[in-house]
Amino acid sequence: MGKILVTGGTGFIGSHTCVELLENGYEIVIVDNLRNSKETAVSRIEKISGKNVIFCKVDICDYDALSDVFRQYDIDAVIHFAGLKAVGESVQIPVEYYRNNINGTLVLLRVMQENGCGRIVFSSSATVYGMNNKAPYTEDMPTSATNPYGYTKVMIEQILRDVCVADSGFSAVALRYFNPIGAHGSGLIGEDPNGIPNNLVPYIAQVAAGRLKQLSVYGDDYDTPDGTGVRDYIHVVDLAKGHVCAIDYAMKNKGFTAVNLGTGKGSSVLEVVAAYEKACGKPIAKRMAPRRAGDIATCYADASKAKEIFGWEAKLGIDEMCADSWNFTKLNPNGIV
Ligand code: NAD
Ligand code: UD1
Repeated sequence: MGKILVTGGTGFIGSHTCVELLENGYEIVIVDNLRNSKETAVSRIEKISGKNVIFCKVDICDYDALSDVFRQYDIDAVIHFAGLKAVGESVQIPVEYYRNNINGTLVLLRVMQENGCGRIVFSSSATVYGMNNKAPYTEDMPTSATNPYGYTKVMIEQILRDVCVADSGFSAVALRYFNPIGAHGSGLIGEDPNGIPNNLVPYIAQVAAGRLKQLSVYGDDYDTPDGTGVRDYIHVVDLAKGHVCAIDYAMKNKGFTAVNLGTGKGSSVLEVVAAYEKACGKPIAKRMAPRRAGDIATCYADASKAKEIFGWEAKLGIDEMCADSWNFTKLNPNGIV
């Protein structure tokens, strides 16, 4: 059996997926340019799994360097995490988002084709359901976007569909993640955002750690049970396990398929705050604030397709997600250094 190439493998979701792949007997090669992660993640993945990892500091936009990786190692399949992911930043620097995310994927696909590698699992997002569908989201709903980051996901899914039409031997699985949070139970890897976090749980974690003063709850007048936004939070370890299932599926099936990875259950901002307070044993200071531009009231998955075709379902609940996030935050007060 050849190796799995993991682009973006030192990042948040990538590092957890590497651990699951290694624990399931896969050999991996990580490619990352360390733009949003640290090389330390490699030794932590090795420590958790007790296995060795090949790491190449390569930008996926660099055709020559990526070709060298494929020449050097026998790559059976690719899991493609590498990309920029901040919605607000993508509105500020759209050209950079399209260059990195779209061009990076095109270079990767070209190198895969030139080396006879025809299997890819891609990190898509629930953001492709846009503003016009109603939860629970099913994979057959029309996709759309409201910002450059979202457009990169919609476009890359389309590119993968087209590649599968042109080459009937090609296999592409687009995994549409809902809201990944939490950390590995060891506390060695987790989410380590640069600067002030945009996302809810990393922000709460820093309030709990005393690094930020209080959480702003963006809107308490939504049409939801308590008025605050509802999302489908999924433990990153459950999410990582979903990638092992997707790789197994891509080994046996051809063509394009999109699959939601969520729990199928929504939690409100106030429910997440309450779960985090329980996890860290102290109150989280908060204030009500206006709605954030671009937010919707409710977003959660219909998770039945993943169960049907992968035999996968999320096992961990919001309490475990908050407990593992807090454990990682306490053990890594300065992030992964
Ligand atoms: P992350 O930033 O922690 O990981 C992405 C990794 O890709 C980083 O290590 C970064 O250094 C690397 N990278 C970026 N551009 C690169 C390039 N040109 N060449 C090589 N490496 C490059 O993010 P994450 O949260 O682990 O997300 C992984 C993927 O999942 C992304 O594509 C993201 O858009 C997608 N996604 C994430 C979420 C989420 O909430 N975290 C939700 C939906 C989808
Ligand atoms: C956001 C992105 C989405 C991306 C996802 C994962 C936007 C509009 N959407 O999703 O495209 O795929 O992250 O990276 O940015 N909240 C607060 N206070 C905060 C932060 C968040 O009340 O300080 C609320 C939000 O209004 C929302 C919920 O918490 O109701 C979750 O927010 P967040 O963690 O940012 O995720 P999404 O907005 O769902």
